[in-house]
Amino acid sequence: MKISIVGTGYVGLVTGTCFAEVGIDVTCIDINIAKIEGLKNGVMPIYEPGLEEMVRRNVEKGRLHFSTSLKDSLKDCEAIFIAVGTPPGEDGSADLKYVLAVADEVGRHMEDYLVVVTKSTVPVGTARKVDLAIKNALNERSTYVPYDVASNPEFLKEGAAIDDFLKPDRIVVGVESERAEEIMRRLYKPFLLNGHPIIFMDVPSAEMTKYAANAMLATKISFMNDIANLCEIMGANVNLVRKGIGSDTRIGQKFIYPGIGYGGSCFPKDVKALIKTSEENGYPMRVLQAVEEVNYCQKQVIFNKVKNHFGDLAGKKFAMWGLSFKPNTDDMREAPSLVIIEALLNEGAEIIAYDPVAMPEATHHLGNSIKYAKDAYEACLDADALLLITEWPEFRSPNFEVLAKLLKNKVIFDGRNIYESEQLSESGFDYYAIGVKYKTIIEKVLEV
Ligand code: UDX
Repeated sequence: MKISIVGTGYVGLVTGTCFAEVGIDVTCIDINIAKIEGLKNGVMPIYEPGLEEMVRRNVEKGRLHFSTSLKDSLKDCEAIFIAVGTPPGEDGSADLKYVLAVADEVGRHMEDYLVVVTKSTVPVGTARKVDLAIKNALNERSTYVPYDVASNPEFLKEGAAIDDFLKPDRIVVGVESERAEEIMRRLYKPFLLNGHPIIFMDVPSAEMTKYAANAMLATKISFMNDIANLCEIMGANVNLVRKGIGSDTRIGQKFIYPGIGYGGSCFPKDVKALIKTSEENGYPMRVLQAVEEVNYCQKQVIFNKVKNHFGDLAGKKFAMWGLSFKPNTDDMREAPSLVIIEALLNEGAEIIAYDPVAMPEATHHLGNSIKYAKDAYEACLDADALLLITEWPEFRSPNFEVLAKLLKNKVIFDGRNIYESEQLSESGFDYYAIGVKYKTIIEKVLEV
């Protein structure tokens, strides 16, 4: 079986490589020549655990190819996946120009039956536009070639994308014909072991499923961030509340961790796009408007705590652990760290950051406005406080005695609730977490 994937970004590259891994002949296409040349030589455009090795293995086995020619890749191809970017336009709606340009090119060059699958996250109704673009291109050639459009949203988490692809909770496919369904079922058969279901539905429902899934997960997070902030005010501990509600299987333990707001390429973009779609269609989704608003405010929470603790921040120096929007990725898109850094810099503070992977990527966003440390401890030298921003595994159990010596003040702001407040209090730290009532040194002294 032979397929093509257009777009060697995050989704396209992981998708293509995982299909190759199960023996399918895959050509990954991109218009970016440098990227394709790099991939041919084993240079990954993104950081994703396990990807480099898997790409190398499949290239060596002759199952994974990289090319800039969409036309050439269509020969004997049964399905083509469109996995190009859909950047948010100025009004928050997804910009479809790249998706439709690919559809047009497919229409101009296809010779045999083909399933044209949208893999990028696109608003409901996009498959119709893809269909139209292909039809128009075929009309211009005065040719008829049979084809089907399909929608096959991805649910990959950055940092765990390969595992998510190989062992999916479910595969959702929107199709319009039995022929397309048969091809998609055959393609995904190797991933359906262990009872993972493939769910076929109509195309608009498949398109909507992706947005509904991400919007629901974002809602869980914003809901918990709201509860966390209230816990703090009321003297409750959100870590316990989380355990208390998470053990109800209807709620579940996942995606109820409070923090400093969700970031990344999907949640912020998809929530905005769904709000936009709902408004355009005369049904503004009030729940999602609140989800977005809570997330915006949550990114300020750590800054507010720092400001409350120190007052004037001019000339203060802060160590920052973690820059990427979450661990195991170098992705800085919509990372809460960017908002926190901007707020601190505006107050005249200085920042020295350390991130195990994301520092090169961070320089594209931040340049030299902050300093970068060689390791986690170096960042803390003479800093007024430590800010834990991304919960990378290596930050989980630091040597607090060493930290106490390095830091100018024993103050930690934990944006991910990864430390034990009791333990830190006993060691004389002022410890601020999210949704947990903290005691400052002064309060502790007064208690005695
Ligand atoms: C997400 C979806 O999970 C995935 O299915 C979709 O296809 C793409 O978007 P991703 O953006 O890679 O994946 O990251 P994810 O692990 O879902 O985390 C998203 C954000 O939510 C991160 O900023 C993370 O820190 C935050 N988060 C997650 C929380 O604040 N609390 C949680 O309990 C879980």
